Amino acid sequence: MQNTQSTEAYGKERASRYDQFASVTMGDRKRQRSYLQDLLHRQPLAHGAFLDLGCGTGFFSEVLFEHRPDFNGHLVDGSADMLELARQRVQKDGRRVSFQHALFDAIDWPALPVFDVVFSGYAIHHLSDAAKWTLFGRIHASLGPGGAFILFDNFLPRQPDDRDLIEFLTCREIERKTRHVTPLEQIIETDRKLKAAENDQEASFEEHLQQLRAVGFGHVVPVFLEARYGGIVACK
Ligand SMILES: C[S@@+](CC[C@H](N)C(=O)[O-])C[C@H]1O[C@@H](n2cnc3c(N)ncnc32)[C@H](O)[C@@H]1O
Repeated sequence: MQNTQSTEAYGKERASRYDQFASVTMGDRKRQRSYLQDLLHRQPLAHGAFLDLGCGTGFFSEVLFEHRPDFNGHLVDGSADMLELARQRVQKDGRRVSFQHALFDAIDWPALPVFDVVFSGYAIHHLSDAAKWTLFGRIHASLGPGGAFILFDNFLPRQPDDRDLIEFLTCREIERKTRHVTPLEQIIETDRKLKAAENDQEASFEEHLQQLRAVGFGHVVPVFLEARYGGIVACK
């Protein structure tokens, strides 16, 4: 059973501030949405269904629905408060969307439809490595032929010195975005506290590429990597 530490961290108060917080701390969110739009544009869609794993407030699910408003969207998150914000954002007349409040390891995969796209944004790094790779296998099995797993997440190199460098670059960008009001040391301290509270367990970008190939994805393509944040598309 996955532990709930990473979802308990997203209670009502945090959920209500999440989009604002993410716009400052989680890289260039506007550009990340553009990457998702562009990837969807290139993606053959045959089954009419997508899945957003760890949808949060629906920031990226919205892009999926903008691309294909006629599709069935299944949104999963372990935080009821985040999921409620996603509901408010994406549920509109005529849309076919289902919301599931669950941890990833409690998903009943055989009950789900075949997906064209499985997307996950900044959620899977909360899992242990073993749980990540198991989930990758389930995602692969849930996709139709030609389907795509689009993964945006936090990545960290293996070596401690290299991790320090990535932490520095990530926090430096936050310092810049907040116009140097808070000293860098304090930003780093807050960042470490948050990551510990959310039970972050990042693996390296390279390990992700390897494991995606190992579960059977034929084309595994790095899309972007900026300090801690990166994107990969894996096609079946
Ligand atoms: C950093 S937020 C990202 C939200 C959204 N994808 C975005 O990029 O804006 C991570 C989300 O994953 C959810 N989450 C983390 N671990 C989870 C797990 N094991 N099962 C289900 N949801 C999980 C959290 O509740 C949270 O809403």
